[in-house]
Amino acid sequence: MKSEGRRIAMLTAYDYPMACLLDESGVEIILVGDSLGMVVLGYDTTAQVTMEEMLHHAKAVRRGVTRALLVGDMPFLSFHGSTAEAVKNAGRFIQEAGCDAVKIEWKSGIEDVVHAIVAAGIPVMGHVGLTPQTAHLEGGFRLRGKDAASAVRIIAQAVALQEVGCFAVVLECIPDVVAQEITRRLAIPAIGIGAGPSCDGQVLVVSDLLGIFERFKPKFAKRYADFAGLARQAVASYVQEVRSGVFPGNEQTFTMDPAEFAKLKAEFGSAA
Ligand code: KIV
Repeated sequence: MKSEGRRIAMLTAYDYPMACLLDESGVEIILVGDSLGMVVLGYDTTAQVTMEEMLHHAKAVRRGVTRALLVGDMPFLSFHGSTAEAVKNAGRFIQEAGCDAVKIEWKSGIEDVVHAIVAAGIPVMGHVGLTPQTAHLEGGFRLRGKDAASAVRIIAQAVALQEVGCFAVVLECIPDVVAQEITRRLAIPAIGIGAGPSCDGQVLVVSDLLGIFERFKPKFAKRYADFAGLARQAVASYVQEVRSGVFPGNEQTFTMDPAEFAKLKAEFGSAA
């Protein structure tokens, strides 16, 4: 798609119904992001998410995806021990959850780990710029690559990930011109989130796009719908109808054959 100048649409999903919807809607890549820790599990950070939680959700998403490329996000500490352990954890996304690829956030020395995972036959998507698992070490959830020196480092990281075999790289929260430069330099697709319009594709957290997650809204996220508002309205109507006796109505009620009911009455008398 990059060579044809066609932009790639990528979104996160964390469960089966959303996976079905996104797959039907035509997104090219579905990511089971570790953002699930914050937007689904209610944790304060993504660093709390475990391998077991990621696999549980990735398996559910797999059942709903028949068309898009499915990527599992390597959670914090799943690739920080030995390289062998990182390969084993990446392999679990493929063997146990049925993912097509894994995503891995940049950290120093990650090149050897990525190289080993790719050598094992597992496609890897890199992630540079703002890397949420370690954001607290670098001043929190803020723009990265603001000054020339840090922009040079991020560009070098993206190039290094391509060199060790990544098939794509996520660029998170960096100035548009830095993303443009990375996109131009890379032969592999650069997928932006808060990285401006020049990237080869875009990714958003689906809960931000649909207005499901309301605790905070990153500047780079665009809300295309107000699912939380719709859900509140629907639940308030249900509560009101239960209280007033409107629900369940005839449509939601099962009836009994009158002849059978007559027999029942005969058995138990008029109390039945
Ligand atoms: O975990 C996630 O959802 C991500 C995307 C924001 C790229 O890493």
